[in-house]
Amino acid sequence: MENFIFENSTKAYFGKGCVSQYLPNLLSQYGKTVMVAYGGGSIKRTGIYDEIMEILTKAGKDVVEFTGIMANPTYAKVLEGAKLAKEHDVDLILAVGGGSVMDCCKAVSLAAVYDGDVWNDFWAKAGTIEVQPLPLGIIMTVSGTGSEMNGGAVITNEDVKVKTGRDYMELNARFALLDPLYTYTVPKLQMVSGAFDSFTHMMETYFSAPDADNVSDSINEALMKSVVRNLRKAIENPEDYEARSNLVWLSTMAENRILKLGKKGDFQGHILEHSLGAFTNCNHGCGLAVLLPVYYRHIKVAGAEKFARFASEVWGISPEGKTTAELANDGVEALASFVKEIGLPTTLRELGMTDDQREWLPQIAAGCVVSPGSYKHLEGDEILAIFEEAW
Ligand code: NZQ
Ligand code: ZN
Repeated sequence: MENFIFENSTKAYFGKGCVSQYLPNLLSQYGKTVMVAYGGGSIKRTGIYDEIMEILTKAGKDVVEFTGIMANPTYAKVLEGAKLAKEHDVDLILAVGGGSVMDCCKAVSLAAVYDGDVWNDFWAKAGTIEVQPLPLGIIMTVSGTGSEMNGGAVITNEDVKVKTGRDYMELNARFALLDPLYTYTVPKLQMVSGAFDSFTHMMETYFSAPDADNVSDSINEALMKSVVRNLRKAIENPEDYEARSNLVWLSTMAENRILKLGKKGDFQGHILEHSLGAFTNCNHGCGLAVLLPVYYRHIKVAGAEKFARFASEVWGISPEGKTTAELANDGVEALASFVKEIGLPTTLRELGMTDDQREWLPQIAAGCVVSPGSYKHLEGDEILAIFEEAW
């Protein structure tokens, strides 16, 4: 194993009714002004907004609303939130939503107290946070990204067509309330794409050095089997509480840094998706569903031993009579079949790209930051080939 330090400063509260049970006391630990941040309005339709407002009113808080946070939040939206937080001298940001709302609020918590340009200093390149970001609390309404228990924030700068994520310990939320019942109203495609996103966080960590026997990979295999099993159950019955609970907690587990301990995962698949997302604004999990099987076909030979282990441990494929390469291939194809089975797009066209957008592919490929590569270093031509094959 590689050396590591483990820290996670977010206190997670999980389960039915956790918001009404714990939010009042949590609010009492912060000052009077709370900025409630949310997306396009699903929380109003589901009743979550009313529930939270009632708790805030009873707690005697002054509420500032920061609304309309879009999927794939933009840098412009971050600046809007920071301006609002500064104007109202906000004491706590309460992010109510999914990864987009959480990520936007993490960036706002920094931008509201930082005098420089946060995009240039913390997203365009990695920076060092020497200020104290505003306190952030999260109420999760859709699972998948795992953003609720890490310091990661993926922001899109529309001006330069770059979508990029950074993880800063200082941006972890102070608390996260995770009620699986809140996720029941999430549309089916979003539920599935969120769960698939979690699965890719596990795979991107698993398919990376070191591969010697290590605790992180063993936990990872248990989580990958759990996401496959529970997503199938949740598709069958969206109100299966156990399945929805497992989908929430395993998505948190995939990204709360535990799986990454001692591993070098470079998230090359996410880098491909982020560039695609910057150009197409596609749903994150759907973009990954299209790209990951194609990407893995490119690296499966270099990482054959691990892909073979994936085939037998996660998909239960018998190694009998098969070479390592054949088994590795079966593992990747089992993943591709699973994408089809759960109804996610398998090509860029199914993702919604139109014929005239095909000419964007070289720019999308060029926009991918080239990482050292988990098993194989991908050069520009091969990255373009992945997008072409995904067409
Ligand atoms: O905007 P509203 O009206 O609230 O609707 C949202 C949105 O349309 C809806 N929704 C949320 N909760 C709901 C609900 N609809 C009904 N009932 C509910 N309870 O769901 C839609 C999607 O929400 P969004 O937050 O965009 O989805 P997700 O959680 O998948 O977040 C995606 C963003 O997170 C980034 C992605 O790149 C993308 O920008 N990621 C963040 C990561 C991190 N910080 O660690 C890691 C990930 O790999 C990912 O890159
Ligand atoms: Zn992701």
